[in-house]
This record gives sequence, structure tokens and C-alpha cells, in this order.
Amino acid sequence: MTSADQQASENPNLALGIDIGGTGTKGGLVDLTTGSLVGKRFRLDTPQPATPENMIEVVVQVADHFAFDGPTGVAYPGVVLDGVTRTAANLDKSWIGTSLADRVGTRLRGPSVYLNDADAAGLAEAHYGAGRGVQGVVVVVTFGTGIGIAMINNGELVANSELGHLELDGKDAEKGAAASARERDGISWKEWGARADRYLKTLENLVWPKLFILGGGISKNPEKWVQYLSPRTPFKVAELINNAGIVGAADAAWMEHRASARQLVEHRGGNLAVTAED
Ligand code: BGC
Repeated sequence: MTSADQQASENPNLALGIDIGGTGTKGGLVDLTTGSLVGKRFRLDTPQPATPENMIEVVVQVADHFAFDGPTGVAYPGVVLDGVTRTAANLDKSWIGTSLADRVGTRLRGPSVYLNDADAAGLAEAHYGAGRGVQGVVVVVTFGTGIGIAMINNGELVANSELGHLELDGKDAEKGAAASARERDGISWKEWGARADRYLKTLENLVWPKLFILGGGISKNPEKWVQYLSPRTPFKVAELINNAGIVGAADAAWMEHRASARQLVEHRGGNLAVTAED
């Protein structure tokens, strides 16, 4: 028994989260009673070319590092439906139509789920971070290489909303307002803030959330940009920063695992007691 297996049998509330990104893929074991990482994260650079073949090997290597046989959640930076990738805005287009469930899931030691990376970050914030306990619609916006959106209603995720791509001035909004646009265009935080502000004001007129949670790479240094934003909607800076994708992916896997254990128990007519062996 590896030490991660040992941990899983001792703590049924552990799951592994893996966050696939354009520059790196990182993973961590998460205790879902607190939403915190157990032990260290493990990260590998994204190989070039970033094709599914190359990147899937990296995802499996990250999983193997933990030698964990409990539930695993994998977050991907595009739409994921039924374990299959449907878009690849900032990745090699050959990713579209890849079944992560078939190509990664069959190589993992435990059950697995697949979801969009912003959705993962949104779940993490809703359950363990800045959105905890908030009723109504919360929109989590991640500003990174692209713009990711998670729509949460009363703590439940409405998956795969892609409002980072809404049209602004005749262009895909994320091209101008993603965090990467600041570096690419060599603009100041103030100029970037004006773009992000305009994006949020457009978004809030379409979905009218109770709260915005602003995450992604920019949540590391909010003092650089918060003063430039004035949407009507109250906003908070994301709390889980770099680990939101990992924590949310693990959370999705853990919830799914508990739901299927519950169904199994109900089917057998017993009471729910989820253990690592279920
Ligand atoms: C993708 C989203 C993703 C976001 C952040 C966007 O370009 O379309 O699916 O969540 O980038 O990675």
C-alpha cells in the first residue's frame, strides 16, 4: 500500500485534483472537509507541441506521482461534456473531441471526473472560498491566459458557461481583457483594469449576479487592479488563488463519488456510509 493509499483508507474525504493548463499541469491531494491541500502540489511543464498525446502523458505522470486510488478530478481549460473536450481556445486545436474519460480515466487507479477549469475554480470558491454560503447567482471570473467563467446558483454549478468569449467591440472579449492581454499588449495595470472593468460591466448586464468572484493569476496581487474596477455587482477577490483548480477538481470527484456511493447504498436498501472502499 502506498502512502497515498494509506491516507485514502484513513481519510475517506480525500480526493486528487489535477489542473491541466497551457503552461503546466499541477496536481494535489485535497481534504474535502476543509478544502485544503494535504502535502505538496506536484507540477510538470506542458510539453511542446501541446497535443493531446503529449499532454495526456503528463496528466498521467502527475496522477502517478500521488499513487492514489481514491476519486480523481481533472480540470481542462475548455468545454468538457461527458468526459469529452469540446473546445480548445488556448490549446492545440487537435484537443477538440478528445475523450479524457477514455484516455486518462482508464490509466488512473480510481474513479474519475472531468470538468472545465473555471468551473473547478468556481466550485472551490463556492464551497471553500469567497463564495461560501452565498445564496443566489455567483459568477466566478478567472483572468489568466483566457477568461474563464463559472456560474454558481445556491452553491450548485451550471457547467460550461463560456461567457469569457462574449463579443466586445466586435472582438472576443478574452482577447482584450484576459490577464495575458496585459503582457501581450505591454499595457499598464490601469489600462488593463479599464478593459476588465468594461468586460465586467457588459457581463453583469447579461446575467445580473449577486456577487462576482475574481480569480485566476491576477488574484495573487489584487492591490494592482482592484481600484480600477467599479461594476454595479459587489465583487470579492478569489481566496484559493493558485490552488482553486486543484481543489475544485478534487471536490467535483469527491461529490460524484459520494453521490454514486449513496445510490449504491440506496439500491441495496442500506444507510449511507461512504468509505474509501466504496
Ligand atoms: C476557455 C474556457 C476556460 C478559460 C480559462 C477560455 O479560453 O474557453 O473554457 O475556462 O479559457 O482557462
